[in-house]
Amino acid sequence: MTIRPATEQDIPAITAIYNDAVANSNAVWTEKQDTEAERLAWMKARQALGYPVLVAAEGSTVLGYGTFGDFRAFPGYRYCVEHSVYIHADHRGRGLGRIIVDELVAAATALGKHVLIAGIDGGNPASLRLHAQAGFVEVGRMPELGRKFGRWLDLVFMQRILDAPGAVRSD
Ligand SMILES: CC(C)(COP(=O)(O)OP(=O)(O)OC[C@H]1O[C@@H](n2cnc3c(N)ncnc32)[C@H](O)[C@@H]1OP(=O)(O)O)[C@@H](O)C(=O)NCCC(=O)NCCS
Repeated sequence: MTIRPATEQDIPAITAIYNDAVANSNAVWTEKQDTEAERLAWMKARQALGYPVLVAAEGSTVLGYGTFGDFRAFPGYRYCVEHSVYIHADHRGRGLGRIIVDELVAAATALGKHVLIAGIDGGNPASLRLHAQAGFVEVGRMPELGRKFGRWLDLVFMQRILDAPGAVRSD
């Protein structure tokens, strides 16, 4: 298994993994399936900002992917990014999610980011556990913020400070 930057050839697999999570989980709060063209545009937009889109792959088979993007648009948020991680349903529970999150932590640190944020559905024990194990702490829980499949959903924010609390910046 290798972790490498995603390429255009990975888009069909990334789209399938994403659409499976849309259809069968509350990991992402939409019921809209994406086309491969939409996922390609999304990947290119991330890469144009200098942000990573990483895949875990075995040979040409994509097992999962992870990425991060800006948390909010105002300039004061420029040192924090929000990430996401998706593992193919057949390959969960074998440590791949943790490996990708660790790689995203390294990539965000290398880009000089200060905080990495995970916005997690409150009913997603796998993601809550994964992030707690990876050094993220729960900093907010917002009840009934979302709605999908006819139910209210809680949003849990977890964050990890990447360098040091209060780290000095040149600006
Ligand atoms: C959440 C997700 C990324 C976790 O990835 P994964 O590769 O299955 O998780 P890992 O094997 O790396 O496990 C990480 C930790 O979570 C725990 N875990 C995994 N699945 C779990 C589950 N269903 N319930 C409780 N804990 C679970 C593992 O035991 C491990 O903890 P440990 O180190 O104490 O043993 C994966 O399940 C997934 O892609 N789900 C659908 C999309 C999604 O929810 N993405 C996250 C959106 S915030």
